[in-house]
Amino acid sequence: MNEKKHWNQIAPTYNQEIFDVFQSDSKKVLSKYFKKHANPKHQAIDFGCGNGKAFSYLSSQFKNILGIDISRKLLNQAEKLPYNNISLKQADLTKRNRLPKVDFVFCCNVAILSGVESNMAILRNIQKTLKPNGNAVVVIPSLESALFSAWRLIDWYKKENVRPEKIESSELSGFAGKKTDILQGLISIDGVITKHYTQQEIKIIFSRCGLTVSKIEKIEYAWNSEFSKPPKWMKAPFPWDWLIECSNGI
Ligand SMILES: C[S@@+](CC[C@H](N)C(=O)[O-])C[C@H]1O[C@@H](n2cnc3c(N)ncnc32)[C@H](O)[C@@H]1O
Repeated sequence: MNEKKHWNQIAPTYNQEIFDVFQSDSKKVLSKYFKKHANPKHQAIDFGCGNGKAFSYLSSQFKNILGIDISRKLLNQAEKLPYNNISLKQADLTKRNRLPKVDFVFCCNVAILSGVESNMAILRNIQKTLKPNGNAVVVIPSLESALFSAWRLIDWYKKENVRPEKIESSELSGFAGKKTDILQGLISIDGVITKHYTQQEIKIIFSRCGLTVSKIEKIEYAWNSEFSKPPKWMKAPFPWDWLIECSNGI
């Protein structure tokens, strides 16, 4: 997929179409990590900043922030936000870039491309841009959560006396890909193949990219993030993304 074209096309309706992790983070886990790493003397980069949804959280916590994204149209929206310590740069984060060395990197739902190598290139770039004692917080979709949500849906149908084989295929269209794709966490979200990760895989992949993982935590969301009208009985455990806290391993 041509990421630049795709995200420029989505830009006008980005806020309606793209899931808002910050608003939906029911236990405010992200805020906890921003506070933990906050330092008014430190520089940060928001890798794949989109239209700047993280800026309201990052701006007050760091001296300055560089927002990088492949989409010029999303950066144009970010530019209009009222922060005076944020600068912006258009770049493809899967490629080699001249980036400053910083103390903190935030990267939320960007290393989610269908090309596994491209995601590793993004993670390697995070490692390269971190100062020796620098830290990163990376958010990525959970494969366990995607499988669990599918199980919840099947379970819900069973309660309504619909056997799994009678469920309309469109309901489980995320899993329509090849077996080997699904097993690699390549699951479609709204028609876009999106990389999902297992907790154990994260440890291996991040380590291969030179990143030392210190914490893997859930960012939990309400069930309406998965289903348009979830029933009242559908409660915890809730669906989630993985939050990974890591350092550059030096
Ligand atoms: C799901 S959005 C997340 C945006 C933002 N991090 C947030 O959480 O609101 C994915 C973002 O990654 C950007 N992106 C995708 N591929 C990229 C690449 N190769 N280099 C830089 N940015 C990329 C997109 O333009 C988009 O803004």
